[in-house]
Amino acid sequence: MLILGIESSCDETAAAVVRDGREILSSVIASQIDLHRPWGGVVPELASREHLEKIEPIVIEALEKAHLILKDIDAIAVTQGPGLIGSLLVGVCYAKALAWGLDIPLVGINHIEGHVYSVAFENSPVEYPALALIVSGGHTNIFYVPSEGQYKVVSRTRDDAAGEAFDKVAKMLGLGYPGGPVIEKLALEGDSSKVRFPRAKISDGRPDLSFSGLKTAVSRYVKENNIQPLANGDAPTREIKDLAASFQQAVVSALVDTFEKLADELQPKTLIVAGGVACNRALRQAAEVAANRLDIPVYFPSKHLSTDNAAMIAAAGYFHLKNGEHSDLAMTADITLRLQNVDVEQLKGKARYRL
Ligand code: KG4
Ligand code: ZN
Repeated sequence: MLILGIESSCDETAAAVVRDGREILSSVIASQIDLHRPWGGVVPELASREHLEKIEPIVIEALEKAHLILKDIDAIAVTQGPGLIGSLLVGVCYAKALAWGLDIPLVGINHIEGHVYSVAFENSPVEYPALALIVSGGHTNIFYVPSEGQYKVVSRTRDDAAGEAFDKVAKMLGLGYPGGPVIEKLALEGDSSKVRFPRAKISDGRPDLSFSGLKTAVSRYVKENNIQPLANGDAPTREIKDLAASFQQAVVSALVDTFEKLADELQPKTLIVAGGVACNRALRQAAEVAANRLDIPVYFPSKHLSTDNAAMIAAAGYFHLKNGEHSDLAMTADITLRLQNVDVEQLKGKARYRL
């Protein structure tokens, strides 16, 4: 089955052609990073306008790179949510029109489930139950996946996503946008034991995460030590490198300690670490150490598949289409989509864990 994947939930316009959920024939991504950089973050209105410009050429390029024409495509998978509404609508409307015109099935995909499927390409097939840490600029969750397509949220952030914390701290230090890659680079030359940041405590004892206190702690440290943010072209100081390393260490250990603790409890057969922050080598190394101790494999997507892309959406789409699920033309973008379909009954009323 040849699936055309389309992704436009945030600031990447992406299209990909994937065969049988595991073989990438093409994957094209138009990043809007340069467009949003002067604003220090994604500007939703600019993002949707740019998607509108890029969607058609990106789809055409994906088909060309796969040496296919539209008529060869068997089905379309498109990101339905969560994300920015204007951005999502561009991909969803385009995909619906194309599916209708070609008279082929369409399936709306949860973006977070897409990230789970980003490990489908370059790794052995996932063995279930699995435990998946999805860390991006918009989301930080740990899912227990008892079997394919079943998700239970076992940990989530109470405030900022991990990637958001990287981006905000980078902004504070004058390091530019997006923050993750710059902080990772500076951290390589810094001493992570220089600043000890306190670990967030969750008052109800759930294995949840929190990064806004860490962000405040960094801001306080910057003020108390009179650290000046870098201006354009400044060489990073030792103080900033040490701070970057200490901050990164605090995020990585909070994520991996929680992940490992839940793995001890739930005994999964596979660990998955995906999402933009999964590009981070310190996070990968710490997850590998945990997996070795647990004696189970950990799967990561390659860099290209860690940040937003359409191949992962097509892979998730393959699973749903194979199960006979598809969306009709009434399907629309939904920014409130959550990924949980196991034990939802007992969690009724808790909106944050909604399906
Ligand atoms: O998955 P993604 O492309 O978009 C969302 O769905 O949010 O993730 C983008 C996030 C940004 O916050 C960025 O700073 C972070 O991933 N990121 C990193 C690294 N590369 C990207 N965070 C830490 N270390 C990195 N190397
Ligand atoms: Zn994402």
